[in-house]
Amino acid sequence: MQRLAGKVALVTGGARGIGLAIARRFAREGAAAVILADLDGAEAERVAPENPAFHPCSLDVTKDQDWTRAIDRTVSRHGGLDVLVNNAGIAVVGTIESVTLEQWRRVQDVNVDGTFLGCRHAVRAMKPPAGRGGAIINLSSVSGIVGGHNLAAYNASKGAVRLLTKSVALHCARRNYGVRCNSIHPGFTETDMLRDLAAGSRYSPEELRQRLQASVPLGRNAAAEEIAGLATYLASDEAGFVTGAEMVIDGGVTA
Ligand code: NAI
Repeated sequence: MQRLAGKVALVTGGARGIGLAIARRFAREGAAAVILADLDGAEAERVAPENPAFHPCSLDVTKDQDWTRAIDRTVSRHGGLDVLVNNAGIAVVGTIESVTLEQWRRVQDVNVDGTFLGCRHAVRAMKPPAGRGGAIINLSSVSGIVGGHNLAAYNASKGAVRLLTKSVALHCARRNYGVRCNSIHPGFTETDMLRDLAAGSRYSPEELRQRLQASVPLGRNAAAEEIAGLATYLASDEAGFVTGAEMVIDGGVTA
């Protein structure tokens, strides 16, 4: 069954990790076009040839003009936008005492401002009469639900994404835009982000991976493909009554 047949999707941070896993799954589910929108435009160019539905796009989620260009091009080339996944995000390890103001601002800039701009541009493109409705999916984290002593900036940013999602969902529902907006809250997922987290800690990437895994009731970390499965459900018409929801996928960490 092709659950996203004919849909046009844009995935930020789509060149690697969870974003690329989501893009691959969307294409397998019949999406007509999947825009791999990434700050690392060269990496998006490198992976795009693997699937005819993939279209690379250089986009910095913090730049309003990049969004205007990316969305305009998507609508003019592919006839509309059905799904936006605000997946691009960065993590910095640091406590309230150690995180620098510069690090704090950079995390809020990418994770919060980037998601805000994405939601705003997508709502404009998806709402009638020009648009045909759609689904917005925001990558928050278990760190948007529970605190961690050394994730001050990341916790704050992912908590903001969680509630921004609900505000967008209610705005669109009240106006009958046909636009749903939901957040995904993964537990630790094995991607290159591990390197960045390990760099700010006293552990090697492998030690950190094992420590994180030991704290998960199911006894392992998530695979990016498992997050992609949940994103596919939220993007599909099967989730037609799901909006403003926070979908936790964490192996029981927050249970
Ligand atoms: P990653 O670090 O492997 O990939 C992130 C991608 O986003 C990269 O391709 C990078 O170039 C791109 N990116 C970074 N800044 C950008 C910007 N300003 N504009 C456009 N693209 C930008 O990350 P991963 O692990 O795939 O995470 C994806 C999302 O899932 C993030 O929002 C992250 O916070 C969230 N998440 C990840 C978890 C994990 O354990 N890996 C757990 C919970 C949430």
